[in-house]
Amino acid sequence: MKIAICPGSFDPVTLGHVDIIRRASQLFDQVIVVVMSNVSKSPLFSQVERMDLLQRAVKEADLHNVTVDCYDGLLAEYAHSRRATAIVKGLRAMSDFEYEFQMALTNRKLNPEVETVFLTTTADHMYLSSSLVKQVALLGGDISDFVPSCLLPYIIDKLRKETEQ
Ligand code: PNS
Repeated sequence: MKIAICPGSFDPVTLGHVDIIRRASQLFDQVIVVVMSNVSKSPLFSQVERMDLLQRAVKEADLHNVTVDCYDGLLAEYAHSRRATAIVKGLRAMSDFEYEFQMALTNRKLNPEVETVFLTTTADHMYLSSSLVKQVALLGGDISDFVPSCLLPYIIDKLRKETEQ
């Protein structure tokens, strides 16, 4: 059984993430989407909220071989513990490449059994990022083309509460 990990901070999950997760689910027998921390980011949504949003998105997309998890340690260790043979990442543009390349090499050094597989984003999602979603929503803009429809009320509500604080 070929198991792949789709790691990320998912703060929050976007339609771009769902597209990558869907395409990974067609390539592998099982896909584990794992919410992790990125040392250079301070998440707006808690780990529990990010997992909950992902679970709803996976359900809406009807992806039966996809599960959602979270992990606070190293991705390479997590991949080993789940017997995964691949880490799947989405690449939007050349600007993503240097950082992703560095992470892929580090992860291979830490766990030579796991390959990083890059899926190029679709043209529709090239510009999309979680930080863009947060910026647009915080300023009252329409994010319905950016996030799964079932998540719209949760994300808007969370950002409204943030601006009220
Ligand atoms: O969605 P992001 O923020 O680009 O995802 C980055 C993430 C969370 C996958 C990365 O920061 C990560 O792998 N964090 C876990 C800790 C780890 O293993 N760090 C070393 C990676 S080379």
